[in-house]
This record gives sequence, C-alpha cells and structure tokens, in this order.
Amino acid sequence: MTTPTRLVILTGAGISAESGLRTFRAADGLWEQHRVQDVATPEAFHRDPALVHRFYNERRRSLASVQPNAAHLALARLEREWRGDLLLVTQNVDDLHDRAGSGNLLHMHGELLKGRCLACGTIQAWPGDMDTASRCPACGRGPMRPHIVWFGELPLEMERIYRALERCDLFVAIGTSGLVYPAAGFVAATAPGTRTLELNLESSLVASSFQEARTGLATNLVPAFVSEVLSG
Ligand code: APR
Repeated sequence: MTTPTRLVILTGAGISAESGLRTFRAADGLWEQHRVQDVATPEAFHRDPALVHRFYNERRRSLASVQPNAAHLALARLEREWRGDLLLVTQNVDDLHDRAGSGNLLHMHGELLKGRCLACGTIQAWPGDMDTASRCPACGRGPMRPHIVWFGELPLEMERIYRALERCDLFVAIGTSGLVYPAAGFVAATAPGTRTLELNLESSLVASSFQEARTGLATNLVPAFVSEVLSG
C-alpha cells in the first residue's frame, strides 16, 4: 500500500463484539430484544423515561465486565506510533477505545458513561445508574438523560468528521453493517482517489463502495492492518 499521511477510521459495534458486547443487528443482538422505538428515540424517552433509563443502565453496567480487545489496542498503538494524522470516529457508545488509549477520538453517537442535563445542557461524567430522580450536578434543577444520540437526532461532531473525510488519503471502516446513516455514507464523502478499505466479519451493505474489503474477525484484521501501516 502507498504510505498514507491522513487517515480516518470509522468503527462500529463489530470491533467490540469480541470483547463481549453484543452488536445491534446480530440474531441475538441488542435491537432484536428491544424495539428501537421503545428505547432509543426522543419519543420513547418522553413516553416512558424509566424504561429507557433501565435499558441504558444495563448497557452501562455491562461495561464493567468487558475489556478492550486486540483491535482496540492496535488502533491505540497506531495513534501512538504513527507519524501521520489519525482521526478515529466511533459509532460505539462504549468506552473501549478510550480505555485502550485512543485519544484523537470522536464518539459520534454519544457515550454511555455520560449524562446530559435537560435544563442546562451540561454534559457530565455519569458512571453509575441514572433514573427519573437523577438531577444535574451543575445546575441542580434539570432531570438527566443518557448522552446518547437517539434515532431522529443529529450525530455529534459532523462538521469535524466531514472535514477530515474530505482531506484524508485513507479511509477505513471497521465492524459496521453500513445500515445506519450518516456513518454508512462516509465512504462516499471522501475525495476522489482516496484509498478506502473495509474490515468486517462479512461484506457490509456498502462494501461495494470501498476499493478493498477484507472479511474476518476484527482482532485478526485490525492488528494486521496496523502493522502494515506502521511498516510503511
Ligand atoms: N469482527 C469484525 N466485524 C464484526 C465482528 C467481529 N468480531 N462481529 C460482528 N461484526 C460485524 C457484523 O458482521 C456487522 O456487519 O459488525 C457489524 C455490526 O453491525 P451493527 O450491529 O449494525 O452495528 P453498527 O454498524 O455499529 O450500528 C450502527 O446503529 O443501531 C444503531 O446507534 C446504533 O451505533 C449503532 C449504529
């Protein structure tokens, strides 16, 4: 591969699967067991905030028993050791990239371990359970919601992400099904001539938009890809 200098990497639930977190669309996946419209929309939160809090409390608690895997660690190593520009964009709301040591990281769908005040908008670290009685530590007034981008809401940091996509010379998508936009459209937002690579267990819905697609486990494919980039 010609040596890239500006790299954007997008990750999805597949990168955390081997750590023990369920993906969304597998047969036993997260959404199979819940209706999206019951737990992951602003309307659901308005209708039944206790149910939505319970759903995200379970997700938050599940983080305590999982660890970053070889794929998360390889991406953190790439950031540490590579001299080019690297932006890691994740759709995942878990903290496994953070714990692996990735710093130049955007959580475009929010973060499980944060809460947002409905009155003053302050975003707070929120490691424990949240419920309808939870109050904002900053203003003392507002009820809290999970700092999660729900269906029908705008993903975070989009301007910065599109700017990086337009400028990068290599775009890599890892462990994402290509079903959910805008992330599924990132490959199409790169400039003509940009090298594009998909690393996924199976070909995603948008695999044909990539110049190259490799199938396999993230814990095999990602460390191998990182070694390739680091060896120039
Ligand atoms: N290694 C690599 N890829 C894997 C692995 C693995 N070990 N396990 C699963 N995958 C792949 C699956 O084949 C699938 O294509 O990861 C992908 C996961 O897809 P989804 O479950 O749809 O997750 P994601 O693409 O991250 O979903 C996007 O949808 O529901 C919303 O907000 C939620 O951020 C999420 C968004």
